[in-house]
Amino acid sequence: MSSVSQIPTTFRRNKEECHGLVRVLSLLSCLGSTLNDDVLGLIVFKADLQDPKANLISWNEDDNSCCTWVGVKCNPITNRVYELVLDGFSLSGRIGRGILQLQFLTKLSLSNNNFTGSINPSLAHLESLQVIDLSDNNLSGPIPDEIFQQCGSLREISLARNKLSGQIPDSLSSCSTLAAVNFSSNQLSGPLPTGIWSLNGLGSLDLSDNLLEGEISKGIDGLHNLTEISLRNNRFTGQLPDNIEGCLLLKLLDFSKNSLSGKLPDSLQKLTMCSSLSLHGNSLMGELPEWIGEMRSLETLDLSANGFSGRIPVSLGNLKLLKVVNFSKNVFTGSLPDSMINCKSLLAMDFSQNLLTGNFPAWTFTLRLQKIPLSKNRLVGIIEHPSSTSMDASYQNLQVLDLSNNAISGEIPFEIGVFSSLRLFNMSRNSLGGVIPASVGELKAICVLDLSSNRLNGSIPSEIGGAVSLKELRLDNNFLAGKIPTQIEKCSSLTSLILSQNNLIGPIPAAIANLINLQTVDLSLNNLTGSLPKQLANLPHLLFFNVSYNHLQGELPAGSFFNTITPSSVSGNPSLCGSAVNRSCPAIVPKPIVLNPNSSSDSSVAGSFSPNLRHKKIILSISALIAIGAAAFIALGVVSVTVLNFRVRSSTSRSAATLTLSVGDDFSSSPTSDANSGKLVMFSGDPDFSAGAHALLNKDCELGRGGFGAVYRTVLQDGRPVAIKKLTVSSLVKSQEDFEREVKKLGKIQHPNLVALEGYYWTPSLQLLIYEFVSGGSLYKHLHEGQGGNFLSWHERFSIIVGTAKSLVHLHQKNTIHYNLKSSNVLIDSSGEPKVGDFGLARLLPMLDRYVLSSKIQSALGYMAPEFACQTVKITEKCDVYGFGVLLLEVVTGRQPVEYMEDDVVVLSDMVRGALEEGKVEECIDGRLQGNFPPEEAIPMIKLGLICTSQVPSNRPDMGEVVNILELIRCPSDGQEELE
Ligand SMILES: *[C@@H]1O[C@H](CO)[C@@H](O)[C@H](O)[C@H]1NC(C)=O
Ligand SMILES: *[C@@H]1O[C@H](CO)[C@@H](O)[C@H](O)[C@H]1NC(C)=O
Ligand SMILES: *[C@@H]1O[C@H](CO)[C@@H](O)[C@H](O)[C@H]1NC(C)=O
Repeated sequence: MSSVSQIPTTFRRNKEECHGLVRVLSLLSCLGSTLNDDVLGLIVFKADLQDPKANLISWNEDDNSCCTWVGVKCNPITNRVYELVLDGFSLSGRIGRGILQLQFLTKLSLSNNNFTGSINPSLAHLESLQVIDLSDNNLSGPIPDEIFQQCGSLREISLARNKLSGQIPDSLSSCSTLAAVNFSSNQLSGPLPTGIWSLNGLGSLDLSDNLLEGEISKGIDGLHNLTEISLRNNRFTGQLPDNIEGCLLLKLLDFSKNSLSGKLPDSLQKLTMCSSLSLHGNSLMGELPEWIGEMRSLETLDLSANGFSGRIPVSLGNLKLLKVVNFSKNVFTGSLPDSMINCKSLLAMDFSQNLLTGNFPAWTFTLRLQKIPLSKNRLVGIIEHPSSTSMDASYQNLQVLDLSNNAISGEIPFEIGVFSSLRLFNMSRNSLGGVIPASVGELKAICVLDLSSNRLNGSIPSEIGGAVSLKELRLDNNFLAGKIPTQIEKCSSLTSLILSQNNLIGPIPAAIANLINLQTVDLSLNNLTGSLPKQLANLPHLLFFNVSYNHLQGELPAGSFFNTITPSSVSGNPSLCGSAVNRSCPAIVPKPIVLNPNSSSDSSVAGSFSPNLRHKKIILSISALIAIGAAAFIALGVVSVTVLNFRVRSSTSRSAATLTLSVGDDFSSSPTSDANSGKLVMFSGDPDFSAGAHALLNKDCELGRGGFGAVYRTVLQDGRPVAIKKLTVSSLVKSQEDFEREVKKLGKIQHPNLVALEGYYWTPSLQLLIYEFVSGGSLYKHLHEGQGGNFLSWHERFSIIVGTAKSLVHLHQKNTIHYNLKSSNVLIDSSGEPKVGDFGLARLLPMLDRYVLSSKIQSALGYMAPEFACQTVKITEKCDVYGFGVLLLEVVTGRQPVEYMEDDVVVLSDMVRGALEEGKVEECIDGRLQGNFPPEEAIPMIKLGLICTSQVPSNRPDMGEVVNILELIRCPSDGQEELE
């Protein structure tokens, strides 16, 4: 008898429970007399467990009867509990001894909870128990022997999916009433108790997923009533019992994943009721006997992963009910019997990884199969045209057709498109010839298309773009020629694109960069040409990218994945450059025109300087060193011009949108809050600026727009006009501290030919730069938008060039690179003097990233020095010299740096250089001047412009030298005495 001291400590918690405790104590004290109190038993049982979801809240110890409690069923006559079913109640803790009070319990089901601890041996005392279900808990320890010792009426027991260990108790055999035993998914070990075979009432025995071992005894024929037996996934050895026909009622036999050996016993054929036979993953051998066709009830036959050999019996076709057949991973030979066309119920089959020969079994198309896996065999025959062999039904069902790794020849039938549900088509490693039919584009469901390692020729059909679900495309190791179709960009789910080892030519389509899911790209070992699209760097998920052994050229994309690309992914492309291939970019290797200082020909720069120059020696030594990068660069110029021009267009529309939005946000909606929270700094005094702020609202006051932002005109309260630049992409601006420091530095740079920066305004979301207002408009307007007859004179042009040059000298002395020199940034004041604006703004970028920089100042198309396009060359103030050279040529010729003709792009410096070489340079000078210019100034000027636009930065003079040269050009008569 239990004593008070055994009452669980968890019971002593609070006042209410103390009340219960008292009751329990009093009840316990008279256990001898009032034994039939199920309430007491259940309350003690409840006290032992945790009930986090309060599922047992109805279990109240003050109730006189427990028959209304959840999970409890009573016999209506005796009012005693006969069923306790608490499945899935989230209960935890141990199964306490309170349960032993329920003397008339027939069914105890605590499945799918979180009970722990071991199984209480005293459960055996519940003599009425017929069903015990403790499956899906966390019970551990051994199965107690006692449980079965006096199991009066136990019929079903399930301890499945716990953590029970040890052996199956011998006493199990004394429980002759047992009809169903399920100990699956535990850690039970050791051999089966021999007595188990004498349980002739047993209908179902599931011991799968344990660590049981030993042989499956011949005694199995004692189980006359067995309908299901699973010993799957244990460590059983030895042969299959040869007297299994004793189990005549067997419907399901699963001995898979053990170490059984030997042949299939003939007795198996007697199991005419057997519908499922699984022997997968053993070491069974020998031929599959013809009698397999006698097992007419078979629906599932799994013999995979064994050592079965010989031919597949024709009698298999007798199994009309067969739904699933798996013979994969054996050594079956011969061909698949055509008789299988009679297995009309077949839904899934797998004959992959055997040694099957013969033609592709066309009958497979006639069944309702979803998958046809026949990979890794020795099939040779061609795939017949599906339409000639089968009914329409099969087309819609087939999802997987895997014939990879065979010896199939012939061509892919053009009608492949009819398989409208096909998701995977793997023909890798066969001997297919011919072309990829255009109808692959009709495979709307296809995710995986693998035609690698065949002998396919022709080109990749552009129709591939129709396969919109495609995730993996493998066409590697074929003889495919032609270009990669740009239509591939329509396959927007593509993660893997493998086209290596073919004869593909042409460029890598930039459209590939739109396939944002791409992870793996292998285009190696082809004949691809052109450069790598820069946009590839934007692919966010790229993990593997191999373009080695092609004829690609130019620079590797910069950024993200490409910064860490392994050299072997790009090797074998002699003209690729960038740090990954350890080769600096070829901007530096053009065919140079070396200027000959001794030449007197008019087409030489030296010639132009020599006649009248005072400092001839200095100048000659400069010019002698100068080599002008030549026409070889025009081609590259055109490419980058086109690409950049495309970028310009797309980014302008974006920045326009930002602008409209931010004008609304920053000014109209909350002008005061922004003005209050922001910081306004004017370098000279502190005029009230707010009055002018509203002028910003007015888009009509917009003066212009550049890479760094839009400029508005507004008037300070003192009536002075200023130009205000609203910086756009705020994320590119540094922290407030950095911003202020850089802006203050720029504010200190003062020069008559520079637009003065007068102040700034800062909030986290809005940054303004306040500039001196210059009234006369930009040089660009004067040159390219002037009204008829009102053009700049030669004299005006000359002084604009000199003034601009001087401003740059000053900037460079202050260690500031302008970065963004162009005619629209040169303003002309009322007296005709140039004032250069927008200088040094690159400093406000978080870092001097040349990609960002070149996209910011892309509007300066044609002014950008070539080193911007090349990672390996340092950017110095010589990039301003280049821009200045272009500007100079623009001023002298009146033409834009880059002009787009109908079918051509004219790069000004190349055009002028060509004209100089042909001795026709005077024809380049702005026709609107109508000859009103001194050639002895104009021609040296042009040559100076060409020298400044030299491709090699070190070949360009510095701005100080440029000013000196300009002064000399302007006063030709001064220098004569120095001439030799
Ligand atoms: C196609 O089959 C081959 C050989 O069986 C296999 O290696 C390859 O991974 C399969 N292709 C895909 C994309 O699954
Ligand atoms: C591929 O390029 C190599 C080397 O330039 C050339 O010999 C070969 O003919 C090219 N093949 C094709 C198919 O264009
Ligand atoms: C890239 O492809 C080439 C040629 O197939 C191969 O040799 C190289 O190892 C590959 N590189 C990487 C990183 O896989």
